Amino acid sequence: MSGIFITLEGGDGAGKTTQAELLASWLGERGLEVVQTREPGGTMLGASLRELLLHGEHVDDRAEALLYAADRAQHVSKVVRPALERGAAVVQDRYIDSSLAYQGAGRPLDLTEVRRISEWATGGLWPHLTVLLDVTPELAQKRREATGERADRLESEAAEFHRAVREGFLRLAEADPDRFLVLDASLPRDELHAAIIGQVAPLLAS
Ligand code: TYD
Repeated sequence: MSGIFITLEGGDGAGKTTQAELLASWLGERGLEVVQTREPGGTMLGASLRELLLHGEHVDDRAEALLYAADRAQHVSKVVRPALERGAAVVQDRYIDSSLAYQGAGRPLDLTEVRRISEWATGGLWPHLTVLLDVTPELAQKRREATGERADRLESEAAEFHRAVREGFLRLAEADPDRFLVLDASLPRDELHAAIIGQVAPLLAS
């Protein structure tokens, strides 16, 4: 596979989407085909799963883990692998690490099992680079309130859940420093962008 696969991770309200857009434009200006996508919801099936996951009734923890993995399997097979095989740069909002942090650390599920489900779903496809925008639950909430949007099912979880998710992300990054770039999401937008392209540029050269 010849493309590059970059994922953005972090709590809700970390600013991933803004950074994904800036990075996608930067890559496009360098003449690459860029596929900007997200989970959950990057395919037609995924859009339905997203609706069920975020706006439906209470979802059992194991069902939740399996639905995110189902979304991921479809997305990798229909969007991500084909793009990488064409040599494109894939810039993706959330991937396996979100399942490891939200389901594996936030919920009372076994992290190793959650990892195994996602690895099976994706055939073991891992990103070249994962940018973790580390956000405190307090800042995330402030940003969410500023948008005036109604919180979805996961955003409405207790502060304790969001703290566990954040710690989960930080542990994942610590365990895999070669893949992760951890940035403080409270930094100015342009500073974050500069730090991200500082890490992406060498990937293009290699
Ligand atoms: P997202 O659309 O990225 O929300 P936001 O833009 O607010 O960050 O993701 C939707 C929610 O799904 C988010 O609360 C995180 C959650 N999620 C999981 O719990 N597990 C997963 O594997 C993924 C991909 C997302």
